[in-house]
Amino acid sequence: MAVGIFDSGLGGLTVLEAVRARLPEVDFLYYADSAHAPYGVREPDDIHALTKAAVETLWARGCDLVILACNTASAAALRRMQEAGVPKGKRVLGVFVPLIEALTERQWGDNSPPREVAVKHVALFATPATVSSRAFQRELAFRAIGVDVEAQSCGGVVDAIEEGDMILAEALVRSHVDALKRKMPAPEAAVLGCTHYPLVQDVFQAALGEGVQVFSQPALVAASLADYLERHPGMVGDGPGGYLTTGDPRRVSDRATSFLRREISFVPA
Ligand code: DGL
Repeated sequence: MAVGIFDSGLGGLTVLEAVRARLPEVDFLYYADSAHAPYGVREPDDIHALTKAAVETLWARGCDLVILACNTASAAALRRMQEAGVPKGKRVLGVFVPLIEALTERQWGDNSPPREVAVKHVALFATPATVSSRAFQRELAFRAIGVDVEAQSCGGVVDAIEEGDMILAEALVRSHVDALKRKMPAPEAAVLGCTHYPLVQDVFQAALGEGVQVFSQPALVAASLADYLERHPGMVGDGPGGYLTTGDPRRVSDRATSFLRREISFVPA
């Protein structure tokens, strides 16, 4: 059984690349719900229903462990799915916690009370649904005190990336960073709270300035997954890996191939 990696579209490929590099012996089955992307402008109930259906498909295809490589799904659906109970032997994990542990200088699973941390002013860039869920601030409050978070909802960026319009995506990133800086002129750190944004990470960094530490998820999630699989070796086995989409496989394959600069072939989910 491969490890399942889920995203609304192509953003999760940034996480997939990092986990593949970190765990070359593991097979991954990627699922892009391209027919319903973007998720970030949907209502929480809708995001929950779509995420649940996708995760159930990955479980049914033999993945015991599914990673929601999507902050919007992690924010709107993960807790609800976990609280409702998952089938025996199956697990679903999100991408928030590794990021927040890095920001708050914590080791995996350190559940000690919240404490002061080095960064005091943090800019959060995420989809409208992730921002309005306040899930990031909630998880942060469990671990840190005295951190001021200014969230910028980055409308349009995911749509532009899914359409392959990188010029528009880059222009939108610059304008969202400007909007953030009007609210918080000097953030010390910035969190890219959407797995599509690492595809335009250089643009975020340039617009924010070199002095701002940018936290991006792929490498953090890969390190955390490696750690998890070491502790739960039974959650991984042999393939089959691959790429599934609910959208047009040819179109999605072309975009993925151009983002990752290697041949990627999606098939219908
Ligand atoms: N990559 C997803 C995330 O991390 C995207 C969102 C979307 O479909 O709007 O939030």
